[in-house]
Amino acid sequence: MNYGARHVAIIMDGNGRWAAAQGEPRVVGHRAGMEALRRIVRAAPSLGVEYLSVYAFSTENWKRPAEEVAALMDLLVEYLRSETDELDREHVRMLFIGERTALPPVCQEEMERAVRRTAGNTGLKLVIAMNYGGRDEIVRAVRRMIKGELDAGRVDEDVVGAYLDTAGIPDPDLVIRASGEMRLSNYMLWQTAYAEIYVAPQYWPDFDGDVLRQALEAFSQRERRFGGLG
Ligand code: IPE
Ligand code: IPE
Ligand code: MG
Repeated sequence: MNYGARHVAIIMDGNGRWAAAQGEPRVVGHRAGMEALRRIVRAAPSLGVEYLSVYAFSTENWKRPAEEVAALMDLLVEYLRSETDELDREHVRMLFIGERTALPPVCQEEMERAVRRTAGNTGLKLVIAMNYGGRDEIVRAVRRMIKGELDAGRVDEDVVGAYLDTAGIPDPDLVIRASGEMRLSNYMLWQTAYAEIYVAPQYWPDFDGDVLRQALEAFSQRERRFGGLG
């Protein structure tokens, strides 16, 4: 089934509350969140999704306790080590957005390996946002534009888009946020200009193909006008 959403961006939120609800430490929720990611990646292609971009760690998440940050970094490494081969077999191409150089070297190595390994794949594009912030992305883009001595008159929306981490990736059609929170939390600020927004009540660890399908069904009922009259 195709609902017309080529690019679905997900804010994977609510891991900590999911864990707390069962009296478990937050990291148990993050681990369950990793399992939810496995499920959603498997479900997305048959729902017509070509690009799935998931917010895994924001530039603001460094404010959390060091143990939690370390656990999240470890989980990324574990996910990439355990999943890349299988994703490669499923023709998934893996990409990353965010400022990589601040991440632990082992994370950077596994990220590079996953990108290289899946570079030739033509199936689902899985974009993982790691140490990503929409404002940080724009600041880094502006710096590179100035360094490259880009002529001011040549800067237009396409040029700015080409300097962002998401260069070559179409803008999200649909943003899904888990756990009932109604904010973007610095996710893809430029790219979401005309994205439809769907807030799911479920915590991220409770996400499955059914929840994704419900979000896509809601999306297919929306009228997107892009500032015109429809
Ligand atoms: C999302 O779950 C994962 C990350 C932000 C890394 P949270 O850790 O934000 O869980 P809550 O929102 O505190 O429940
Ligand atoms: C957004 O969730 C970031 C990720 C899901 C990685 P947060 O839990 O960090 O966002 P706030 O603090 O509730 O806005
Ligand atoms: Mg949260």
